[in-house]
Order: sequence, then structure tokens, then C-alpha cells
Amino acid sequence: MTTELRTIAYIAAAVLFILSLGGLSNQETARRGNLYGVLGMLLALLATAAHESFGGYGVLAAAAIPAAILGAILASRVQMTAMPQLVAILHSFVGAAAVLVGFATHLHAGGHDQGAVGELVAQGKAALEGAEHAVHLIEIYVGVCIGSLTFTGSVIAWGKLQGVITSKPLMLPARHFLNVLLLAGLAFMGFLFFDAPASGGAGWLLWATLVSGVLGVHLVMAIGGADMPVVVSMLNSYSGWAASAAGFMLGNDLLIITGALVGSSGAILSYIMCRGMNRSFLSVILGGFGTEGGVAPAPGAVGGEVRTIDAPATADLLRASRKVVIIPGYGMAVAQAQHSLAEITRLLRDRGVTVKFAIHPVAGRLPGHMNVLLAEANVPYDIVEEMEEINAHLPEYDVAMVIGANDIVNPSALDDPSSPIAGMPVLEVWKCGNVIVMKRGMASGYAGVDNPLFYRPNTLMLFGDAKKNVDAILAAIR
Ligand code: TAP
Repeated sequence: MTTELRTIAYIAAAVLFILSLGGLSNQETARRGNLYGVLGMLLALLATAAHESFGGYGVLAAAAIPAAILGAILASRVQMTAMPQLVAILHSFVGAAAVLVGFATHLHAGGHDQGAVGELVAQGKAALEGAEHAVHLIEIYVGVCIGSLTFTGSVIAWGKLQGVITSKPLMLPARHFLNVLLLAGLAFMGFLFFDAPASGGAGWLLWATLVSGVLGVHLVMAIGGADMPVVVSMLNSYSGWAASAAGFMLGNDLLIITGALVGSSGAILSYIMCRGMNRSFLSVILGGFGTEGGVAPAPGAVGGEVRTIDAPATADLLRASRKVVIIPGYGMAVAQAQHSLAEITRLLRDRGVTVKFAIHPVAGRLPGHMNVLLAEANVPYDIVEEMEEINAHLPEYDVAMVIGANDIVNPSALDDPSSPIAGMPVLEVWKCGNVIVMKRGMASGYAGVDNPLFYRPNTLMLFGDAKKNVDAILAAIR
């Protein structure tokens, strides 16, 4: 493939990626957006593999075919609720790739403007002189550092989301000092790396990889349960910048553009999520700087009387209401109760009851989780409202039905400044006439915080699996 043709293919792929991001920002166009992304990536891979200097088809096939099969199997098997873990581990691969590209570029010496694999790989560092050489070294050093931080941070995020690492924030004494020390160490090693003779510096690069890796572990370990969504989107952003840095090292324009798109969209998403959760953007990037994490009361410490209700009585209450608001959470996703819930919604609306769904920005385990499930169950978009839209209107509702949600309806976020989720906006369901909370027991949610909502005088607990209870309510309404 000629250079001109490859440039055209790269531009087309970049446009497809931009269209993909545009499409993914809206539920109705998300499927199309996904398709654009797939086409863009296919085009990018084909154009790169068709590079005239590319000779390693055997190696490419040996790496890409099993990886593609493995990826397809994993993606088709993964539960919706385990998606954030998958995304986190995929980010770690991007970080690891940036580190490997950095080392390969440095050890092969040179390699600038070499396209995807390397006609110039063998030219040697001597070919790059003066300012160009300095810029090249910066690309390598920064790319390796961001890559390593992304790799270890993402592995820790995966562990926290998977539940193999505690979701409680790790609050080491002098932790901010430790972060500053690690950053200063990286700056110093960077200086030594640039100063090393042309053929050297790999040792400093290795040290920088280790120190950045420790920083990644420490930054993410310091983030508590409820703030994990922001960390995952922040790591998404870092993985984009790592890919962009790899693009600079390889002289690959498309990788630079794609990485920048992922990096900036991830940063914007993190910012939006921080705003939605009333968290400081800087505080989250700096590993919880300025927050002391809060202390969760011991389970059961909140206490009080719990009143229960059964499914037929819930059905009676719903039928007798004028306005009902449904708050879905992680438990609805686990139980896969959305289809029966959509059916209940249809029946109630047929009887003249106003039904709305209220969506918290971090309900479930990934951005837009609830919206995807409700769309899958054909719940009309116009009855699905965001938290900011509906919160002020909640006192007008006769019944709030909370299905498998916990942290997002926890009043202690507003009432208790010492709570780990203090300051996070929540759906103020206790302002509705009655609140029915559907969950299996009294367990806390993802943030590990007890929920005083369960003990409020207008709260009724409907214990059991959400799907079973929703089916029972549906049968009673029918
Ligand atoms: P959670 O606070 O995690 O509460 C979910 C509740 O569902 C649990 O208390 C659980 O109680 C119940 N449950 C689980 N399985 C159930 C089933 N089969 N039937 C009925 N109930 C079931 O969920 P949430 O309110 O949606 O809040 C989300 C939390 O996850 C926030 O802390 C958020 O920060 C965090 N998070 C969100 C994201 C994104 S981007 N959305 C990503 C990572 C983390 P029982 O065990 O008693 O049934």
C-alpha cells in the first residue's frame, strides 16, 4: 500500500472513530456508533498491516488471531455487571503495550517516523540528533511512565471491582507526601535518562517503570468504593494518553489521534462524573487528595425498626397510586428483573398511573448501566429521567420503588459529614409518600456503608431476589 493510500485510510479511520464517539453519546445511536468504531479499527489494522515495509505476517497472525478469538469469547461471555472489570483489565493491556513499545523503541535505538514496524528501526539513535533526539527521548520516557501507571492502576481497579481487593480506601500515613516523593523521583530519573549516553538509559527507564507502577497502585488503592467509577474513566483517559505516546514513538499518526480521542473523552467523562458525584476532579486524580476517606459505621450500627411488605401488598399499593417512581440499581442488573419490571410499568400506565424511572449517574457498575438495561427491556425513553431532573419532584410521588439499589438512595450522603459517601448527590426517595426497597437482606451496597433509609418510618422492605419479587408483583397486578 502506498503512503498516500495509507494516509487516506488513516484519515477515514479517524473520522469513523469520531463518528463512533458521537454515536455512543446517545442511546438511540449507540449501536451505530459501535459499528463505526469496529469499521474504523478494522480499516486501521488493515492499513497498518499493508505497510510496504511490513514483513512480519507470521508473527502478526500468531499474536492477533488467538488474541481476537480470546477477546471474542471473553466479550460474549461477560455479564453486564462484570463489564467494568473487563474494561479495567483492557485498559491495563493498553498501558502494558505503551511500556513495551517504549522499551522496544529505546532498545532498538531510533525508530522515529518508522511507520508501524520499522524500516528505520535499525538506523540507530545517531540518526536522530539534537532537538529531535531530545523530543524522542521525552516521548519514550513519558509514554513508559503513563503506560506503567495505567497498567498497575488498572490491575488494582480490576481487583477492587472484582472484589479480590477491598474496596475500602487505603489511607497510608503521609500518603500525599509519598505521592510527591514518587513524582519527584520520576522527574529526577527522567533527568538521568536524558543525560545518559546515547546507547544507555535503559536502566533508568526500568526504574521509572517500577516507580510509576508503584504510583499507579498507590493512587488507585487510596480511592474508596463509591468513587471507583471516576477512577475507571480516569484510567480510560490515561490509557488513551499512553496509546497516543506510543503513536509518537512509532511515528503513527492514527495511533496519536485515536489515543488523543480516548484520552480527552475519558477525561471529559471523568469530569462530568465528578461533577455528578460532587467530587473534586483533582482530588480523584491525586488519589483522594483533600479527602480523608470517611469512616463507614460498622454494619448494623445505624439500627432502628425495619418494616416489611410482601409482593401482593406491594402490587395493591402500586395500583392505588397516582404517581410511582422506580429506582433501579445494581441488584436489578444482577437479578435481570428489567423485563418483568417493564411489563409492570406498561400495566400500571394502562391503568392511568404515572410511572417514571429515576437514574443516578453511578447506578449499577458502569456509566449508563441502567439506561442500557431499560432500553433492552423497551422501556420508553421519555419516562426515564436523570437524577437532577427528578430529585426536586420526588415529593409529588406516592410510591418510590427501589430495586436492588442502595448507595444511590442513601440519606447519610447528605446527613452525615463523616460518611465515606458524604457530599455525593443521591436520589432523595424518602421524600416520596412511601418507599419500597427490594433487596435480599440488610447487606450494604458497593461503598460498604449502612443505609438509614431502611429504618425510615415511610420505608417498607420487600426482601428477596428482585426478579422473583418483581414477577410476583406482576402476577398480582395481572
Ligand atoms: P449498590 O449500592 O452496590 O447496592 C446494590 C444492592 O443490590 C445491594 O445492597 C444488594 O443488597 C442488592 N442486590 C444484589 N443482588 C440482588 C438481587 N439479586 N436481588 C435484589 N437485590 C440485590 O448499587 P447502587 O445503588 O446501584 O449503587 C452503585 C454503587 O456502585 C455506587 O457505590 C457506585 O459508586 C458504585 N460503582 C458504580 C459504577 C458505575 S460507573 N455505575 C462503577 C463502579 C462502582 P442485598 O445483598 O441485601 O440483596
